[in-house]
Amino acid sequence: MKLFCALIGALCISGAHSLPVSGSPDPLNPNIQTLHQFPKGAWVENLAVRQNGALLVTRLDVPELWQIDPVFDPINSTPLHPSGNARLIYRFPGATGLMGIAGVNANSSDHDRYAVTAVNFSLMTFTAIPSSSSVWLVDLTSEKNDVHVEKIADIPEAGVLSDITNLDILGNMLISDSTAGCIWKLNVNTKEYGRFLCDDTMKPLPAAGLPVGLNGMKTLTNVAIDRASGATRSVFNQLAAKLTVDNFAVDYAGNIWAAGNPTNTVTVIGKDNKVVWTIGSKNSSALAGITALAWRSRTDGPLYGTTCGGVIAPVNGTFTEGGKVVAIQIWGLAGVN
Ligand SMILES: *[C@@H]1O[C@H](CO)[C@@H](O)[C@H](O)[C@H]1NC(C)=O
Ligand SMILES: *[C@@H]1O[C@H](CO)[C@@H](O)[C@H](O)[C@H]1NC(C)=O
Ligand SMILES: *[C@@H]1O[C@H](CO)[C@@H](O)[C@H](O)[C@H]1NC(C)=O
Ligand SMILES: *[C@@H]1O[C@H](CO)[C@@H](O)[C@H](O)[C@H]1NC(C)=O
Repeated sequence: MKLFCALIGALCISGAHSLPVSGSPDPLNPNIQTLHQFPKGAWVENLAVRQNGALLVTRLDVPELWQIDPVFDPINSTPLHPSGNARLIYRFPGATGLMGIAGVNANSSDHDRYAVTAVNFSLMTFTAIPSSSSVWLVDLTSEKNDVHVEKIADIPEAGVLSDITNLDILGNMLISDSTAGCIWKLNVNTKEYGRFLCDDTMKPLPAAGLPVGLNGMKTLTNVAIDRASGATRSVFNQLAAKLTVDNFAVDYAGNIWAAGNPTNTVTVIGKDNKVVWTIGSKNSSALAGITALAWRSRTDGPLYGTTCGGVIAPVNGTFTEGGKVVAIQIWGLAGVN
């Protein structure tokens, strides 16, 4: 059942109890529905939401960009098409997988172009072939449903380009490099690129299980946020310690909804850096290997997620599945994607 909120700022959860906005880390139990599941072995890494409501999702196990077009029942908000209306948008040449995706917004009428990072990345060793990272532009503005794709740049100096985010309306994008501890800046119009900022806090932790440092990244009032484990520096704020975070989404209230990948949970971190809620659990396959999150819109939910199927840390020690795209039924929150 979809709940309606009279007050902007109230949190509505479909199909579950709603909780007060303050409090200790409580489990939040929204309905979670699978919009589309790929075959076993599929790793869905990241997503962007189109203005028409469709989702663009990147696969890391193959160099493919897919579109999932969810349609919800207006009465009970369940997805109407079990297959999620999935469609392959483009298979990229010269790379083994895709990492990040973000809208470009090079000017105020530029709404359906996306920058995508591609890399030769092994899911067996979690390392990339050196000098294999590139950035592409996917143009979906054609009215005839044509897809135009061009490579913007190879960035051979990069380690592993992962997440990408729009910086401004001049076509500048920021790209996280998860092994070099750097953020790169790339202009999609001029194709110029360079190191934007580098910091030891964004490098992989020496003792980390996976050789991955900075990963998810969003531009918020022009301050790039580092991953949760970063130490506090002038421009680097530690969000919460001892958390495994893959990617994250931010809501209008400033809460961070962090995808925990091997924890099979989403952790909500409030503005005071305290964990407010958790969704999912280690032994549940609902969010098995959750990799990234994005709000449907700036005015309402649901919160969409992508998964890798639990392959880093199997659910209850044994269970893995194909990566999927889910709708977490949280309504009434304005998301900042
Ligand atoms: C990356 O993989 C693609 C597809 O297998 C291959 O064509 C390309 O040469 C590889 N690039 C590098 C730098 O190894
Ligand atoms: C805005 O960007 C779009 C997409 O690249 C382009 O077609 C259009 O000409 C641009 N408009 C202006 C005013 O620069
Ligand atoms: C592990 O989780 C899967 C998926 O939820 C379930 O089907 C299976 O029965 C569970 N196995 C054990 C031993 O708990
Ligand atoms: C998860 O499942 C495993 C295998 O069934 C079990 O040993 C473990 O206690 C469970 N953990 C939790 C937190 O329920």
